[in-house]
Amino acid sequence: MDSNRLLKQRIRRLKQLPTLPSLLRELFEVLQDEQSNFADIARIIKHDQTITERILRVANSPYFGHSGYVSTIEQAIMFLGYDLVKGICLGASVFKLLDGGKKRTLSNLWRHSFEVGIIAANIADQKSSSDPSVCFVAGLLHDIGRVVLLTLDMKKYLKIISSDDLVTEEMDCFGIDHALAGAEFLRNANLPEEIVATALFHHRPEEAESFPDLAGITAVAELLSRRFFPKDEDDGIWSEQTEGILLRMGLEDQDLILLEEAVKRQADELASAMSMN
Ligand SMILES: [Fe+2]
Ligand SMILES: [Fe+2]
Repeated sequence: MDSNRLLKQRIRRLKQLPTLPSLLRELFEVLQDEQSNFADIARIIKHDQTITERILRVANSPYFGHSGYVSTIEQAIMFLGYDLVKGICLGASVFKLLDGGKKRTLSNLWRHSFEVGIIAANIADQKSSSDPSVCFVAGLLHDIGRVVLLTLDMKKYLKIISSDDLVTEEMDCFGIDHALAGAEFLRNANLPEEIVATALFHHRPEEAESFPDLAGITAVAELLSRRFFPKDEDDGIWSEQTEGILLRMGLEDQDLILLEEAVKRQADELASAMSMN
């Protein structure tokens, strides 16, 4: 069997890891069951106090601008939407996977992920017909493959995590990059096809045959995150293609100044609700 298939198999087996928190295992089961509905996911979330609190904090955060107080998981799902709650649950539980020692790296990766989500949602809102909340989830989960690679070999991955050419380094070290690793993981969790495709193409949006707008928005959001929220864990790389997307979207200098102001404020509004602590 070639090494690529072997790696994909290891990613598929991740959900059976004994160390996987029971919430994540149950979540996988519900996500994989096409018959499941929001009552099933609410039942699972309620068993986990930390995730319950996080979802309620997110639903009540100024970022989502809800006027009344959201006090139950059912209300939160109704208000935020099933896909958004699924995305937050999956993201929050996966990014918590590797505790011990590497907390800072993971929380920075998580922060990078929701910053990309916020930028993507704002671009969608202003410059495209894509649904901002779908863009938010796509951004939130775009780099989940980096946690997958960290889980496969933490020592090896930490050596390359801040590389300026991360995708090439990943291919050299793992024979797979985080885009493919993430897409495999998300497909396996039965996340919607547009979220899977976005994870797969977020570093080469010009190749996305399905959902090219979403992949383009996420790629541009990833690039802008390096400019707005620079950190060791960001991984946006300017290229002619992404610059072309920026132009096609009509994002000009003045738009970028306003966008930066808005997303920085929103990231602050969401930070404590999303906090890993
Ligand atoms: Fe990435
Ligand atoms: Fe990223």
